[in-house]
Amino acid sequence: MKIHQHNSITKFHKISIAPMMDCTDKHFRMIMRKISSKALLYTEMIVAQSLIYTDQKERFLNFNEEEHPISIQFGGDNPEILKEAAKMAQDWGYDEINFNVGCPSPRVCSGNFGASLMKEPETVAKCIESLKNNCNLPVTIKHRIGVDKADSFSSLDNFVKRIANSGADRFTIHARKAILKGLNPKQNRTIPPLNYEIVKKLKESNPKLIIEINGGITNIEQCINALNDFDGVMIGRSIYKHPLRWSEIDQKIYGLNKKSKPASKIIFSLIPYIENHLKNGGKTWDICKHLINLVEGIPKAKIWRNQISIKSIKKELNIAYLLELTSKLEEMGY
Ligand SMILES: Cc1cc2nc3c(=O)[nH]c(=O)nc-3n(C[C@H](O)[C@H](O)[C@H](O)COP(=O)(O)O)c2cc1C
Repeated sequence: MKIHQHNSITKFHKISIAPMMDCTDKHFRMIMRKISSKALLYTEMIVAQSLIYTDQKERFLNFNEEEHPISIQFGGDNPEILKEAAKMAQDWGYDEINFNVGCPSPRVCSGNFGASLMKEPETVAKCIESLKNNCNLPVTIKHRIGVDKADSFSSLDNFVKRIANSGADRFTIHARKAILKGLNPKQNRTIPPLNYEIVKKLKESNPKLIIEINGGITNIEQCINALNDFDGVMIGRSIYKHPLRWSEIDQKIYGLNKKSKPASKIIFSLIPYIENHLKNGGKTWDICKHLINLVEGIPKAKIWRNQISIKSIKKELNIAYLLELTSKLEEMGY
């Protein structure tokens, strides 16, 4: 299936919602799009090799038109394979390709991609060149400030300069290094300390590069402050766990004159989408598992969430029940 090219191609995005495996699938992205009409959305990481060889390309590539602007994230280390992946991304209508050099998973690193590639700038440069030469989308990169012992400013600076020369259009930098031996992926997102200063120094030394900061950002005020130093801010865990905390992105960051939606309104607006998903053989839980995080910090939030989960386990989570529960939220003013 081919989707028409969208015209939202730009390298600048003040706010983006991080790629997160098992979280940022198309359903979560639809929920986020109801919250912000502007933030850049990312797919989960797609291993380029798996995409090329699978006969279920739709499963990896399909997204909803409303999701634009949307970046597809690839992992890989083979320029020939990435070439094919780039063509597919463009044909499918993505707005941007992002290359993952930040994932510390041993599974990913054993295939010699993800964060371990930071030790091989020449390979990364070839991958970026291959992506660039085979599509006309912006090609961006997501990486760490270092990996293992290669964590000096000069190695980061050299890496970024080399990759900029290969044509990368934006650098999203998770401001902690990756430790490939001894820490699992989860620990690699908390234990190595955040170091925004090194990224700030990098931006100061390379003012023409578009640099987006990522890691540990938990509210809109922090984003506004970070935008004084960086071109963009990427938010991961905080937006997944607390989507409504971010309900004023469009107003406070993009200056749009609109009202932010309460949880009930967001859920009601998703009902046709959920109905369509069911019609195509999907399950309510595929979408509702992301929706439950919308309901927090209000009386009986836990009960609301439990009811959704229990009904789902009993295979009784249908639209009528969802509407009933959401009407209760609306009655309470949420
Ligand atoms: C569950 C989970 C899955 C993730 N999957 C990816 C991924 O597929 N690709 C990627 O580049 N980063 C991935 N990350 C890292 C995030 O994109 C982000 O860089 C990291 O969580 C730091 O940002 P935060 O502190 O705002 O969460 C993942 C993070 C989490 C928590």
